[in-house]
Amino acid sequence: MSADYEVKGVVAVITMNNPPVNGLGHATRSGIFAGVQKALADEAVTAIVLTGAGRAFSGGADIKEFNTPKTFAEPHLLQVIEAIEKAAKPVVAAVHSVAMGGGLELALGCHYRVAAPGAQIALPEVKLGLLPGAGGTQRLPRVVGVETALTMIVTGNPVPAEKLAETKLFDRMIAGDLLAGALAFAAEIAARRPLPKVRDVKIELADREAFFKAARATVGAAAKHFPAPLKCVDCVEAAVTLPFEEGMKVERDAFLMLVQTTESKALRHYFFSERAAAKIPDVPEDTPKRPIATAAVVGAGTMGGGIAMNFANAGIPVTVLEVNQEALDRGLATVRKNYENSLKKGRLTQEKFDQRMGLILGTLSYERLKDADIVIEAVFEEMGVKEKVFKKLDEVMKPGAILASNTSTLDVNRIAGFTRRPEDVIGTHFFSPANVMRLVEVVRGEKTAKDVLATVMALAKKIRKIAVVSGVCDGFIGNRMIEQYARQAGFLLEEGCLPEQVDRVMEEFGFAMGPFRMGDLAGNDVGWYIRKRRYAEQPDVIYSKTADLLCEMGRFGQKTGAGWYDYKPGDRTAYPSEAVNTMIVNHSREIGVERRAVGDQEILERLVYALVNEAAYILEEKIAQRASDIDIIYITGYGFPLHRGGPMFYADTVGLAQVVAAMERYAKGRHGRFWKPAPLLARLAGEGKTFT
Ligand code: 3HC
Ligand code: NAI
Repeated sequence: MSADYEVKGVVAVITMNNPPVNGLGHATRSGIFAGVQKALADEAVTAIVLTGAGRAFSGGADIKEFNTPKTFAEPHLLQVIEAIEKAAKPVVAAVHSVAMGGGLELALGCHYRVAAPGAQIALPEVKLGLLPGAGGTQRLPRVVGVETALTMIVTGNPVPAEKLAETKLFDRMIAGDLLAGALAFAAEIAARRPLPKVRDVKIELADREAFFKAARATVGAAAKHFPAPLKCVDCVEAAVTLPFEEGMKVERDAFLMLVQTTESKALRHYFFSERAAAKIPDVPEDTPKRPIATAAVVGAGTMGGGIAMNFANAGIPVTVLEVNQEALDRGLATVRKNYENSLKKGRLTQEKFDQRMGLILGTLSYERLKDADIVIEAVFEEMGVKEKVFKKLDEVMKPGAILASNTSTLDVNRIAGFTRRPEDVIGTHFFSPANVMRLVEVVRGEKTAKDVLATVMALAKKIRKIAVVSGVCDGFIGNRMIEQYARQAGFLLEEGCLPEQVDRVMEEFGFAMGPFRMGDLAGNDVGWYIRKRRYAEQPDVIYSKTADLLCEMGRFGQKTGAGWYDYKPGDRTAYPSEAVNTMIVNHSREIGVERRAVGDQEILERLVYALVNEAAYILEEKIAQRASDIDIIYITGYGFPLHRGGPMFYADTVGLAQVVAAMERYAKGRHGRFWKPAPLLARLAGEGKTFT
C-alpha cells in the first residue's frame, strides 16, 4: 500500500508515498483508508496528520489508471474522503509543494489544513477535459469564495498557497518544518469539538443569476471545442443553489459523462504524449549531459533572432554572428522590437527587458563564438552555405561544443560530414516564430553522440520548448507530412475546390488555419523554392501547378499583400481573390479536368489521411520514435486541433479500417497511386489495432 503510517506521540501521521507525485491510485487510496481506520482504532491516538512524501502532497487522481478497472476499485477517492470527513478524530492535511485535483479534494475533506508557503494549489482537471470529481466543485467555493473557486476550476491554473492564506482553505501557514508545525497544530486542536467540515460552510453570493450568466458567456467563448469548462460552471452553480449532497451528484454525473468524451481522451493523450516525447529508449535519463552556460547563433534572420531570444529568456548569454554589420543591425533591431512589444503590452518589466537585451551580443567574428557551449546555425537553406559555416565552426569551436543546425529540409548527416566531429552535430529545427512556437524537432544524425542528444533535450526543456526527436529524412517528421497534405490541397483546387472552401473545412475541423491561409502567412515562395528542387531531384512526384502559377503572379502571401487571397494594407483578413480563382478554374481547363462539386467530407479526409499515411511510413522507417510524438508535433507545430488529439489519435478514433476504406475509394480517382496505404497502416487496420 502506497501510504506510510507512523505514530508520533499522540498523533498518527499518514504519508502518501507513490512517487513521483503521490497520484491517488488504488494502492495509495487503500493506504490512506487503512491508515485512518488504524488511527481511529488506536486509543492512544488523538489526531491524524495526512501528508505526502517527496515532491508533492498529491498530484491528484492517478491519470495512468483512468479507463482501467483500478479506477473503479474500492475504496474510491470519494469513499476515502468520506472516511476522513466522518472520522471521530481530527484529520489535518499538511499541504506542501503540489496539491492538485484529487489531492486538493482530499485536503478539502480533512477537518483542518495547514500549508507550506509556495505550495501550488489547483484543480487542473479541466486541462484533461474533466472537472473535479471528488467534491472539488462543491467544497472549494465554500472556502475560497465562488469567484476565486470558479476561476481556479475553469482555468485549472495553480495558485500559490500564500495567496489563499487569508481564506478558509488554510487554518495556518507554516514556514520551516511543515511536519513539526502540523504536529504542533494537531496537538492544539486535538480536543476541539465539533470537528469542522467544509460541506457545512454556507456559501454567499450576491446576484447569483447575473454572476453565472456572465461566467457562462466568458467561459463558453473561451472553451470553444471543449465541453468541460461549461460543465464546471454548472457544478459551481449547483454548489451555490443546491444542498451539498445534491450538488455532489451533479458533479459526479458531469464527471462520469466527461471522462468518456473524445475531447478528454485527447487531452489525456496529449498530457502523456508530451512527457513520453522527452524519453529516448536508448538514451537513459541518467546519461551525462554537457554543461550549457553560453550559446551562439549564426545568422540573425527570421529564425536566428528568435532562437537567440529563447536563450536570453532563459538567462543564457548568447552571441549572434552575421555576415555584415547591416544584417547584424537589422537582426538585432528585430529582436529589440519584439521585446519592446512585450514591454508595451506589460508582459515584460523594464528590468527584464534590459537583462534580456544585455544577454544578446552581436558579432561579425567567429573568434567571439569559440567558447560557446552550443552554437546553432540558422543561415540560408543552401548546402553550400551550410558547408562553409560548419567547416568554419569545426575550425574555431572549442572541443566538446555542440554544433547544431536549424535546417528545415537538408541532410543533417551531410552537414555533420563537413566537420571532423560529426558526433557533436545535431539538428534543432525550431518553428517560426522561434521565440513563440514551442516545438523543436531534434534531429538525431547517424553519428550524433548520446550525450549530445541528451544535452539538447534537456536544454530544450530549460528554454521552455517541447522537443521531439526525429531521424534524418527530407523534411523530418512535420514538413515531410505537411508536403503530402499540401499536395492534396493542390489537387483539390484542380478538381473543383477554391481556397476558401478548403480552408473553411479545415478550420471547422479545428485547425488554427486552413492550408491556403497558412501558405499566405508563411510565404508561398518557400514551398516554390522547395518544389523547384524536387522537380529536378524527384521528377515522378506530381504536384498541382496552381501554387507555382500563384508565385509566378508574384503572390507570395501576406508579405506581398497578395497570395491565395487578397489583403488590404494593415489588415490580415483574407479576402477571396477573383484573380486567383480565375487562375484556378482556367488551370483545370488547361489540364483537362472537369471541375466538380467536392464535398466537405472528402476535403477533410483527403487532407488528414494524407498526413496519416505519410506518418505511417515515418513510423515504420523509425524516423519517429512513437506515434504520439507525431501528434505532439502536429498539435504544437502545425495547429492540428488539440481536441482531436493529433493525426494519429484522430485516425484511431475514426478507426484505421475506416481510414483505409476511404483511401481505397480515393485511389479510384486521380493520382490513385497516392492512396496506397503504407504497410504499417494496412497491417494495423487489418489486425483491428491502433497507432496510439
Ligand atoms: N497521475 C499519474 N501520474 C502523474 C500525475 C497524476 N495525476 N501527475 C503527474 N504524473 C507523472 C507524470 O506523468 C510524470 O511521469 P513520468 O516521469 O513517468 O513521465 C511525472 O509524474 C512527473 O510529472 P511532470 O514531468 O509533469 O512533473 P512536474 O514537476 O513538472 O509537474 C505536476 C508536476 C504539477 C503534478 C504535473 O505533473 C501535473 O500538472 N500533473 C497533472 C495533475 C492533474 O491533472 N491532476 C488532476 C488529475 S484528475 C483528478 O484528480 C480527478 C479527481 O478530481 C477525481
Ligand atoms: P533568413 O534568410 O531570414 O536569415 C538567414 C540569415 O543568415 C540572414 O540574415 C543572412 O544574412 C545570414 N547568413 C547567410 N549566410 C551567412 C553566413 N555564412 N554566416 C552568417 N550569417 C549568414 O532565413 P531564415 O528563415 O531565418 O532561415 C534560416 C534557417 O532556418 C534555414 O536553414 C531555414 O531552412 C531554417 N528554418 C526556417 C524557418 C522559417 O519559417 N523561416 C522555419 C524553420 C527552419
